[in-house]
Amino acid sequence: MPLDIIVGSQWGDEGKGRMVDLLSAGADIVARYNGGDNAGHTVTVGARSFQLHLIPSGVIHPQPAAVIGNGVVLNPVVLLKEIEMLRQAGIHIDPERLKISHAAHLITPAHLALDAAQEAARGGRKIGTTLRGIGPAYTSKTSRQGLRLGEMRSAETFHAAVRSHVQVVNRQLSRLFDVEPLDPEAIADEYDDYARQITPYIADVTGFLSEALTRGRRVLAEGAQGTLLDLDHGTYPFVTSSNPTAPGALVGLGVGLGHVERVIGVTKAFQTRVGEGPFPTELHGDLATRLRGTGENPWDEFGTTTGRPRRVGWLDCVLLRYAARINGLTELALTKLDILTGLDPLKICTAYRVGDEIYEQLPYGPSDLSPFEPIYAELPGWHSDVSEVRRWEDLPEEARAYLLRIETLSGTPIRLVSVGPERHQVIEIS
Ligand code: GDP
Ligand code: IMO
Ligand code: MG
Repeated sequence: MPLDIIVGSQWGDEGKGRMVDLLSAGADIVARYNGGDNAGHTVTVGARSFQLHLIPSGVIHPQPAAVIGNGVVLNPVVLLKEIEMLRQAGIHIDPERLKISHAAHLITPAHLALDAAQEAARGGRKIGTTLRGIGPAYTSKTSRQGLRLGEMRSAETFHAAVRSHVQVVNRQLSRLFDVEPLDPEAIADEYDDYARQITPYIADVTGFLSEALTRGRRVLAEGAQGTLLDLDHGTYPFVTSSNPTAPGALVGLGVGLGHVERVIGVTKAFQTRVGEGPFPTELHGDLATRLRGTGENPWDEFGTTTGRPRRVGWLDCVLLRYAARINGLTELALTKLDILTGLDPLKICTAYRVGDEIYEQLPYGPSDLSPFEPIYAELPGWHSDVSEVRRWEDLPEEARAYLLRIETLSGTPIRLVSVGPERHQVIEIS
């Protein structure tokens, strides 16, 4: 009854979509368990590239069913657009194939307006959110005032619930932020239309998954964001409002502990972050531009969802070791090894220093990283192209040494290494 969980080990954008696409070739069900359309997951198949925000990346394969779990916050506009985009691309999506939990929460224009107003009010202390209404939607959920998808099935009460939700947020917008109120009736009408389109997809996701797992079906749970953006375990307050870490898959899908087989941590060969918050190994100047790229390649480090340039730096193995512990990683899937080709020497952060004290583990988690100065190991780089390599033994010796060092420092075996965005650009390590 195997449930495999794919989780980001850094600050998101590790290449989870690409790895889900690879691993879902053998899956019966692919399942999104957290976040919303703040996520942007790119899957490249030949000349085609798909950018998915809500629907699990595994749907590009024809066979797996797809679910969106209760842990997700869902903007119906984005969902409907994404379904349309996939259909246009010839990918089959209907309520037989895609099931969305009745307990997932809705994002509304009121949440989007609150996200923008809160960010503006934070001024110099802004989080740098994706402005997709994520924080406010989870706030509605935890304050027990949210709108759940299941409510869409009762047309009249749903209309009234949306109207009253917008009225409540309007009071906050005008009193706390001096922002123009939204039109509750117009939004309620708009949401009636979404309800008609989305209701057929609403399902008992936990029941569906439980039955599938009992029958021995293979489920792949796809995390959005990453460990260091986790609300509880990340660089708080510079985090998202959900739990991207592996246990979030169990809560966000409603499945039991006993099913988990593999917990696969996706990590880039270096470190990136989009948005504000601490980043001990961050680089600036020419080296940063070299790692980020200039935007001419589709994989250059610019946000899939917002287009913002990502901050970049050397791989931080203190944080990777932490991610391995928090998630109980059974293995790592490493992406973008090809990007390091030609950089010589390479650096890896092995520990932190504060004065004379050396820390190999974080004493109080990653929320305050400001006192720490990274300690680096310097490793020789390699200069030959690795993007066509498919076997471990064909990698340059320096690349193998780099990967082995990451395994040692994180205490986790690397099972997959990707050397390009294409499906086949991968090295499997047994
Ligand atoms: P996600 O949010 O974790 O799914 O990652 P994103 O899709 O936001 O960002 C990862 C980017 O890197 C995408 O453009 C991928 O196509 C690309 N990518 C993934 N793996 C590799 C790789 O090994 N090499 C290169 N060059 N690009 C990669
Ligand atoms: P994927 O799934 C990278 C970041 C935002 C911001 C913080 C809070 O593609 O890896 P939010 O809008 O969630 O309230 O913003 O989290 N963030 C991401 N960074 N990848 C993502 O998703 C992200 N989703 C949110 O930039 O710093
Ligand atoms: Mg992304």
